[in-house]
Amino acid sequence: MTPDKTPRSAVVLISGGGTNLQAFIDQVADGSLDLNLRAVISNRPDAYGLTRASEAGVPARCVDHTDYVDRDAFDAALAAVIEEYAPDLIILAGFMRILTAGFVDRFEGRILNIHPSLLPKYPGLNTHQRALDAGDDWHGVTVHFVTSELDGGPPVLQGRIRILADDDAGSLAARVLEIEHRIYPEAVRLMLTGRLRWHEHAAWLDGKRLEAPQPFS
Ligand code: GRF
Repeated sequence: MTPDKTPRSAVVLISGGGTNLQAFIDQVADGSLDLNLRAVISNRPDAYGLTRASEAGVPARCVDHTDYVDRDAFDAALAAVIEEYAPDLIILAGFMRILTAGFVDRFEGRILNIHPSLLPKYPGLNTHQRALDAGDDWHGVTVHFVTSELDGGPPVLQGRIRILADDDAGSLAARVLEIEHRIYPEAVRLMLTGRLRWHEHAAWLDGKRLEAPQPFS
C-alpha cells in the first residue's frame, strides 16, 4: 500500500504479556474496531501475548531475536514474516526491540507505537520511575508514528494522569496501562476512518498537519 491509503489490516508486534494486544482483540471482537487482525508476531517465544492471539484465532508467530547474529538479520527476518500477511499497519504493542532505520523506512507511515510517557519526555525504559524521580506533577502515555529516532516519531494522541503523593512506579504503570487500552485502539480507529493519515513524512489529522499530539481522556 501507499502510506496515505486508508488502512484495513494490521499485524501486532509484541514481546510480553500483551494486554494492549488484548484490547485490540476485544474491540475487534465486539465490532467497535473494524480491523482485520492478520497476525501477532513476538520476538520472544514465551510471550503470553502469543497465547492470547491463539485463543482469539489470530495466527501467532515467533521470530526469536536470539536466533540472529545482528539487528539487520533479525529485522530482515521479521520483515519477511510481516510481508507474508501484507498488512496495512504494523502495531507495536510492548515490542521491546529497537528497529533499524532500514526496517522503519521500508514501512514508513505504517508503524504505530505506544510509549508510557508524555513524549518527548522519557524516551526509552523505566519511564514511570523517571517521572517520579523528576518530581513531575503529570505523567501519561503517547501513541506515535515510528521513525528511526527511538520513541521520537510524530506523536498522535496523548493521555495524562496526575501523579499522586503516594504513587510508586507500580501504581503509575497500572493507571497508565488503563489509558493505554483505550487510547491505542482509538488512534488506530482514527486511521481506519481516514481521519489520521501519514502524508509528506508527517502525521495529519482531519486534513491538518499535527504539530502536537491530540489530548485524549
Ligand atoms: C506497555 O506499557 C507499553 O506502553 C510498553 O510496554 C507495555 C506493554 O504492555 N511499551 P502489554 O504487553 O501490552 O501488557
